[in-house]
This record gives sequence, C-alpha cells and structure tokens, in this order.
Amino acid sequence: MRVGMMTIGIALMMATIETAPTHAAQAIALPPPQVDGGQSVERVLRARRSVREYGRGALTLAEVGQLLWAAQGITHDGLRTAPSAGALYPLELYLVSGRVSGLGVGVYHYIPARHRLVPVLGGDVRAALAQAALGQDCIADAAATLVFTAVTRRTTRKYGERGLRYVDIEVGHAAQNVFLQATALKLATVTVGAFDDDAVALVLHFPHEHAPRYLMPLGKH
Ligand SMILES: Cc1cc2nc3c(=O)[nH]c(=O)nc-3n(C[C@H](O)[C@H](O)[C@H](O)COP(=O)(O)O)c2cc1C
Repeated sequence: MRVGMMTIGIALMMATIETAPTHAAQAIALPPPQVDGGQSVERVLRARRSVREYGRGALTLAEVGQLLWAAQGITHDGLRTAPSAGALYPLELYLVSGRVSGLGVGVYHYIPARHRLVPVLGGDVRAALAQAALGQDCIADAAATLVFTAVTRRTTRKYGERGLRYVDIEVGHAAQNVFLQATALKLATVTVGAFDDDAVALVLHFPHEHAPRYLMPLGKH
C-alpha cells in the first residue's frame, strides 16, 4: 500500500516533467577518458569515504565521462573496466543530470562502445528520484546521480539462476570503480541501495528490462 501511494505520488510529479524519446542521433560525445591521473591506488583506497552532502558547484562533462568510463568503459577489444561473468555485460548505466556544465538537465543513457550519452528524458527529476529512494536528500541535492541497471537475462541465459548472483557482484565491481575514480577526482559520492525499484524505473522511464540496482549521487565536496 505504501509503495502504491509512493508510485502514484511520483507519477503525479512526473506529469510536470517534459519527456523526450530516446534518439541516438542526439548522442552527446564525452571527452576521451584520462588513463593516467597520477594518484596511487593505495592513496585513493585510504581516502575513500561515503559523503552525503554536496557543494553547489557543477560537475564538468569530462568528470562525468571519466566516472562513466570507470564504471563500464571499453578498454581492450570490447572488454571493459569492470569484470563481467562470461563477458556478457548485463549492466546498463544512466546519468541523471542536474548541474553538469555542457550537459542539459535530464536523464541520459551511457553507450560504452561509443563513449556517448543518449538523451532519454528532459527536465529535473532529482527530487522525484530522491522520493523514490525513500526520501534520501543527498539525491535531490547531488549535481548528478549515476544509476546502475541490470538486464539479468543476458547472464542467466548462460548461467541460469546463479547468473543472478553474478549480476549483483558485477554491480558492486562497477560501483567500486566509480567510487575510487570519484575519490581520485576529489568528488563526493555514496552508494545507495535503499530505494523502491518500481518507483525509480517509473521516474527515469527505464525500458522494462533495465532493472535498477544501485544509485550513486555525485557532487563537489
Ligand atoms: C549495498 C549497500 C547499500 C547502501 N545503501 C545506502 C543507502 O541507501 N543510503 C546511504 O546513505 N548509504 C548507503 N550505503 C553506504 C553505507 O552506509 C556506507 O558504506 C557505510 O556507512 C560505511 O561508510 P564508508 O562507505 O564511508 O566506508 C550503502 C552501502 C552498501 C554497500
């Protein structure tokens, strides 16, 4: 009942948000990722901390591109920054943009093979997403939020039920990459697992198969 009410509330909020069809022709090229930030892994591991309050500054398109690349970027012959069982790559990433210089407010889908963002939805959905995440203010306040979704069928087709475990493990790999990359860039983030799956999918207009798994609000310190 509570979830039903929340979903209705979010649907009403969404009625005021402009929608745009996914259009690959409008894809936004991201700056090429840097592959030598000059910091040691050990220093970054020691510095990593969950942060839930953010400065008012905007992220740059280069920072956003770097974080997406850390999560799922292509490194060699189609292989990616994070390991994947059977190299089947069940994860799909979205960026909810609020304050990113050079990027309009809205929702974008990341295309690893082209290191591009495809617009999915226009308008500021951060407050609605925060509501879907059980009212966690850090999501409404963040400059952007990275959303990990999974198409579990890509992995369960080969591995059966055990594939479900593999997919969840992969989300953790990719999220830790983002956490360490954010720390190296002196950006603030936290991993958020507490949210209503259906409400998040509704707010962000996800296709049926893209199931939300993890959120990472991001901002300046
Ligand atoms: C699976 C998982 C789910 C989490 N969900 C949330 C969440 O919904 N909201 C939140 O503020 N922090 C969440 N956290 C962050 C933890 O609270 C945080 O990692 C913990 O307090 C340790 O702090 P540290 O990350 O700075 O080491 C989550 C962490 C994990 C691993």
